[in-house]
Amino acid sequence: MLGSLRSWFRRRRIPALRALTQADAPAVAALHADGFHRGWSVAEIEALLADRVVFGLGAGHGRFATVLDGFVLSRVAAGEAEILTIAVSRRARGQGIGRLLIEGHLGQLATAGVRDVFLEVDEANAPARALYAREAFAEVGRRKAYYARPDGSRGTALILRRALG
Ligand SMILES: CC(C)(COP(=O)(O)OP(=O)(O)OC[C@H]1O[C@@H](n2cnc3c(N)ncnc32)[C@H](O)[C@@H]1OP(=O)(O)O)[C@@H](O)C(=O)NCCC(=O)NCCS
Repeated sequence: MLGSLRSWFRRRRIPALRALTQADAPAVAALHADGFHRGWSVAEIEALLADRVVFGLGAGHGRFATVLDGFVLSRVAAGEAEILTIAVSRRARGQGIGRLLIEGHLGQLATAGVRDVFLEVDEANAPARALYAREAFAEVGRRKAYYARPDGSRGTALILRRALG
């Protein structure tokens, strides 16, 4: 019974959440490069995953959720967290994985004693803004000409906050 349920989930490719380890660094770097025009190296990701104030969560499929469909990383200090990055693989977007990741991650951060979560998002990034609005993040500031876009233009960063608890 349990076995057939597991294979049903595997067939449907419903992702499961799991903590990230340093061994995930190459897959996380690939997902990051798929989502942002300026990528992070495997070594940079490895260093983040080794840092005890950095919290990471992955959404994956397959046995033990080994194959990552998306991830989120935050840095925590003095009861506040900053979401450093979140990305879902292009082929898996629009299926609720971003929400699953954010909701799981907010739970993870609340358990670690975080009271406020902050992040920055390009005001032109409609999918990300929709995701954060859905998860009750609210604008608390703006940084003009903050992002360098591939076409040479500069984008405004919105600073969003979500209180926990
Ligand atoms: C932003 C991102 C993580 C969203 O992941 P996702 O798995 O596609 O998101 P979900 O399927 O969970 O959708 C979450 C919400 O955003 C909305 N949304 C998703 N894609 C959208 C799009 N292209 N346009 C408008 N809204 C969109 C969904 O409708 C959903 O809202 P709903 O529940 O009210 O319907 C994904 O698009 C991504 O990896 N983008 C590249 C990296 C990036 O920009 N990261 C954010 C940096 S701040």
